[in-house]
Amino acid sequence: MKKPKFQAPTGMYDILAEDQKYFQRVYNVCENIANFYGFKKIETPILEETELFSKGIGLATDIVGKQMFTLRTKGGDYLTLRPELTAPVVRAYIEQGMGSLPQPVKLWYFGPCFRYEKPQLGRFRQFWQFGFEVFGEESPVIDAQIIRIFYNILRELKLTPHYFSTRKFTQASSTKSGGGLIVDINSIGDSQCRPYYKKLLVSYFRSRETVLCPDCRRRLRENPLRILDCKEEKCQPIKAQAPQMLDHLCEECHKHFREVLEFLDEIELPYHLNPYLVRGLDYYTKTVFEIFEDTEEGRKQGALVGGGRYDALVKLLGGKDTPAGGGAAGLERIIAVMKGKGIKFPEPAPAQVFLAQLGDLAKRKSLRLMEDFRKQKILVSESFGRDSLKAQLARANKIGIKYTLILGQKEALEGTIIIKDMASGRQETVKLEKVVKEMERKLKIKK
Ligand code: HAM
Repeated sequence: MKKPKFQAPTGMYDILAEDQKYFQRVYNVCENIANFYGFKKIETPILEETELFSKGIGLATDIVGKQMFTLRTKGGDYLTLRPELTAPVVRAYIEQGMGSLPQPVKLWYFGPCFRYEKPQLGRFRQFWQFGFEVFGEESPVIDAQIIRIFYNILRELKLTPHYFSTRKFTQASSTKSGGGLIVDINSIGDSQCRPYYKKLLVSYFRSRETVLCPDCRRRLRENPLRILDCKEEKCQPIKAQAPQMLDHLCEECHKHFREVLEFLDEIELPYHLNPYLVRGLDYYTKTVFEIFEDTEEGRKQGALVGGGRYDALVKLLGGKDTPAGGGAAGLERIIAVMKGKGIKFPEPAPAQVFLAQLGDLAKRKSLRLMEDFRKQKILVSESFGRDSLKAQLARANKIGIKYTLILGQKEALEGTIIIKDMASGRQETVKLEKVVKEMERKLKIKK
């Protein structure tokens, strides 16, 4: 087939009716859960000052280094299509003076993000995220609650749990994949303990640099923690022997992490300690987590949800020192899992009545009649573009309508309308102004 002259930009796509059902469903579940846990919705602009992201997410990250859609305005400012919403929400928290509201401030969002990535399974250049952020609360109970919220949303969307036992402070071992949701969790420490751990890591990898993949050699200079995240076969044995952050947490981070795990145990949320989980954004402190679907496809497309604490970000972006944490989920990836599982939705209620018309006057009167039916909440289907009665009746038959109303030229002049019972073929003529009431009676609609 010849390609049309214009196509959606690479890695971007139209969301048609079939997928709108999924988006709507996810939105409704998020909204209900957000209300339950006391989160207020926030919308931020699609564009933000470029520096918000370079400072907030970190210059050495892939997102800032390679994936931003940046433009220069006519006024000479640099703006970037948001690659994520945490930095924008922090900007809004500071700018709107939310620091002086009673804390914690809990916000949620739902909207498109943009990253210039190589399009592949689960990776788009325009994708949708929903997320939850909590400001002004340092207790580890919030870390556990955020994970619980995402887990609840995925369960509500009929994604299934993964059954394996909860392990405390043990090295993650690979579980046999029977599918289901896995929560990976780790702590990457804070400004007290991470610099020392980074040094240890760099010296460990430097002595093995020649056997690392080219990407990891680059990471060693730019962002050594990210080596732990490498998926290359040849780096795995080296990674496995690397020092682990959990063994080098300072007392405060250690206590915080232990308590997060205890809270997760308390609410019986199964998790998997993953010492290699470091996340691709620089703002995290202490807890980090990801949730993914444990199938080959699920692992390939990447995490459904990612998040963690970012206690230093509000201050870094110009606000008061404010502990915070949150997470975000990717709509496309969640919907892919839902589709893979054959999760379906009830179809919208079918029309109860079909309105067929013949001639100009009848067409005009039919338009008015449609509105009368709408006011009484009776679903009406029509085919106003068709002039042949046969074609209109065929359409009514095709969509399985019980009653067709026929407004011909004669009826339009007389102020009447024909009600045709499609199953028996019986017809009766009623006054036009009575037809809505008559249909309510026939359809047994109680007011
Ligand atoms: P992130 O891990 O970069 O974290 O993105 C969160 C989720 O967005 C991912 O788990 C994935 O489902 C989805 N996602 C990311 N990139 C793409 C893509 N190119 N195509 C499709 N889906 C994608 C953040 O964005 C942080 N702001 C999360 C956070 C909130 N941390 C604390 N609060």
